[in-house]
Amino acid sequence: MQANRLMAELLQHDGAMGSSGLQRAVPDDGRAPSLAHRMKHDKSILALAVSSQYIFAGTQGGEILAYSLDTYELRRTIEAHRGSVLSLTLSQDQSLLFSSATDPIVNVWCTSSFGRLYALWSPYDLGDIFCVAYSAHHKTLYVGAQNTSIQWYDLKQKDVRPQPNPASHPSERKNRFFDSTGPGGVSTPRPHGADVTLRDAVGGQYLEIDRQDVHQFAHYGYVNCMLLGKRILPEAPAEEVLVSGGGDGRIVLWRIDATSGGAISSLFALEDGREEGESILSLARDRSFLYSGRFNGEVNVWDLETRQLVRSLKAATGDVLTLSLGGGHLFAGGVSGLKYNQHYETISTFKAHEGLILASNFANYNGKPTFVTGGNDNTIVIWEVPDCEGRETDAKRSNNDLMVESLNQFVSFKTVSSLPKYRADCRRGASYLRSVFQNFGAATEMLNTSEPYNPIVFAKFRGNPASAASRKKILFYGHYDVIAAENEQAKWKHDPFTLTGEGGYLYGRGISDNKGPIMAAIYAAHELANEQNLGSDILFLIEGEEESGSRGFAQAVKAKKELIGDVDWILLANSYWLDDHVPCLTYGLRGVIHATVQIESKHPDLHSGVDGSALLDEPLKDLVMLLSKLTGSHGKVQIPGFYDPILPLAEDEEKLYSEITATLLRGNPDLGDAEELAQSLMRRWREASLTIHRFQTSGPDNSTIIPRLAKASLSLRLVPNQEAFEVARLLEDFLQSEFSQLGSKNSLKVTIDHQAEPWLGDFTSPIFQTLESAIMSVWGPTLGRRRSSVHALKHNIDYFNPNPNSGSDNRPSPTTSNTLASGSGEPDEQGFVAQKPLYIREGGSIPSIRFLEKEFDAPAAHLPCGQASDSAHLDNERLRLVNLYNSKKIFKKVFSELPLR
Ligand code: BES
Repeated sequence: MQANRLMAELLQHDGAMGSSGLQRAVPDDGRAPSLAHRMKHDKSILALAVSSQYIFAGTQGGEILAYSLDTYELRRTIEAHRGSVLSLTLSQDQSLLFSSATDPIVNVWCTSSFGRLYALWSPYDLGDIFCVAYSAHHKTLYVGAQNTSIQWYDLKQKDVRPQPNPASHPSERKNRFFDSTGPGGVSTPRPHGADVTLRDAVGGQYLEIDRQDVHQFAHYGYVNCMLLGKRILPEAPAEEVLVSGGGDGRIVLWRIDATSGGAISSLFALEDGREEGESILSLARDRSFLYSGRFNGEVNVWDLETRQLVRSLKAATGDVLTLSLGGGHLFAGGVSGLKYNQHYETISTFKAHEGLILASNFANYNGKPTFVTGGNDNTIVIWEVPDCEGRETDAKRSNNDLMVESLNQFVSFKTVSSLPKYRADCRRGASYLRSVFQNFGAATEMLNTSEPYNPIVFAKFRGNPASAASRKKILFYGHYDVIAAENEQAKWKHDPFTLTGEGGYLYGRGISDNKGPIMAAIYAAHELANEQNLGSDILFLIEGEEESGSRGFAQAVKAKKELIGDVDWILLANSYWLDDHVPCLTYGLRGVIHATVQIESKHPDLHSGVDGSALLDEPLKDLVMLLSKLTGSHGKVQIPGFYDPILPLAEDEEKLYSEITATLLRGNPDLGDAEELAQSLMRRWREASLTIHRFQTSGPDNSTIIPRLAKASLSLRLVPNQEAFEVARLLEDFLQSEFSQLGSKNSLKVTIDHQAEPWLGDFTSPIFQTLESAIMSVWGPTLGRRRSSVHALKHNIDYFNPNPNSGSDNRPSPTTSNTLASGSGEPDEQGFVAQKPLYIREGGSIPSIRFLEKEFDAPAAHLPCGQASDSAHLDNERLRLVNLYNSKKIFKKVFSELPLR
């Protein structure tokens, strides 16, 4: 599995991977591995080891990165070595991780605490340590090095041997070349930072290899790669044998002598008949076959029974820097990747990296074959491998994998409701969604809205208890339509309609708003039904017009009320956390009225030089005068009676704001004043506002035209107790009355384009309580453990601070400003632990919620699934995998634990 790292380093690719190209494997006959996820780092990946929990990646910077195999999140960056990490090996039981490097130290790590257990070095200058092999049976560690030696250490002896003298540590030694004194008696200065202590390469027991435990000239070249195993000798299958591949082109099999501390003696070498072989760069073994990789794509297949070279394959991979075996296939990696079947036929090539594949590993995670590659483009790629042995059916794939696969398809439909050109795509997306329900055994129906609006997908998972009366009826509301993502300026890193996994996130238009949360709810109901644990009827109403004001939704639902039946609880998941770390529950949304104000004259478009005079009432001037009446200073709305119904801040509500600010400030003391922070949130969540979005005029777009017609779009965000219908009437009356005072000859038309009622849930109701306990048990101890990015939070608060002196020049984009988005902060071990989710309100609107509550006489609750940095409605929309998985778990709990009403 190892490669000649030195050569790989020499070929180091300079610079990070570009944004183009490598999202998918080169497609051939569908049997190529397909790219499932990519993790980016800032240095080359030279070594990989995969346990049942983690992907460990060794970097050129000396770190070991530990990624969760489940969610692909970076769990730990271990500062491990003072030079490139050249090899990583796990013990058989996966409790120990061995890393070797150019320092030249071998560190042994505990794979659960990530602490260092042992640091091991040689008394000799052995150069770079290219490879390590560990025999759990003999508890002996073998080290293959640049100075052609193989050395070993019997860990059983670690407490018996004398403690090494710290002065013998390689970092204390003089380098014969660099530290020798030159002309004038001066030695080369040490590079800057050479003596900085590494955070994690501390502690543990120091071990020095005994001067006798060395096999000099194991090869007449570097010892590039090693492996260790039983069933290598046909005559002694139980015997554990060490195999090494060297720069001399030889593969040597070594006998291990347990009675003399694991000493090795050469058994025989595999010869290919050449006088002088070229370097063995990589090794892999499958039962009695051994595979070796060499320069120029040469892969040799050796039969260990007969010790013969049985095949010599020519791979189009360039130098074969890494070999991995798994699922009945051999994977070779170099400039590109190659997959062979058992008959040594090339079955696919794949382009994994913008550069070289330097390391690879094959793992069977929960029965799912997973192939991992690392390259000098600084990335690690996880591959799904089709047609592997033991993966004939989807049964081996976890529901989370299948859920991502369903999302992969769901996101590929361009279900943009605002653009007529996507009408067919919307229908196809709706039909795909219906098929997901149908496949899971739900009863479905397409509810038509009035033409040309998109249909609503209705589905029902029937709960299993006999009596319908004892079954709760939970209605999940969502929308399959998305905001446009034309990507003309290529601001998306990947195609917006191709779901792409990167760094623990899924990227794609609509993944967070609202396709991911919908799929999590569907899979939750499906899993409960499959486990025979679905005690409630779960109804789904997934509309296709939410982003366009839920056109036609209310009428269509009213028309099908009988089909939908009674509802006890309403649940939706269409907003975001307040930052990137603390789970939230949303109990309030603002309402909205979108209106167009149009002023028209009886004249055609005119020329301002020829026709402009005080005699003419210009529509645009009238419009500006009229709109100026709408608001006073600081945006105060001047419509009489507008603020009258708004409820004062209740005491228990005020407490929620204190809880929110306390939670945020506990992690980020720099945020400043709690009161200011609370005020900034209240302004957006519980106060009404008015926005003028844009103007439009008739006639050519030049500065001599007096337009015949001028119009403006505006919206008013409403808060609980303001009735949208009533505010719309007040707005129209106010504009008409102000317009009549202008005495203009023009005519005014006010159109209400769409409106949504504000929503205020009862956060003391059982649905919120059930959600709260589900969130606490699913997010568990990680709840609030990480710190929010101080800068992002602070920046946001400054922006909304009513005090202009504390404003920030660097304004966030208005679309994200309703959230306290944090950057991609690293986990912080000193982070606080919140006890409960934060109860929050939101400034945005979802037209159907209040309607559904009224129509079905059932309370609604809102579970935000995504993080503040999800960028819904913006470029590079994303959803974190762990949020998707945990949302599914929360829905499962809520679907089963909600009480009867
Ligand atoms: N998911 C948002 C609404 C939202 C945004 C809720 C932020 C909570 C926090 C939804 O997709 C949306 O954008 N709604 C529109 C409604 C309008 C088109 C009637 C909105 O808020 O402007």
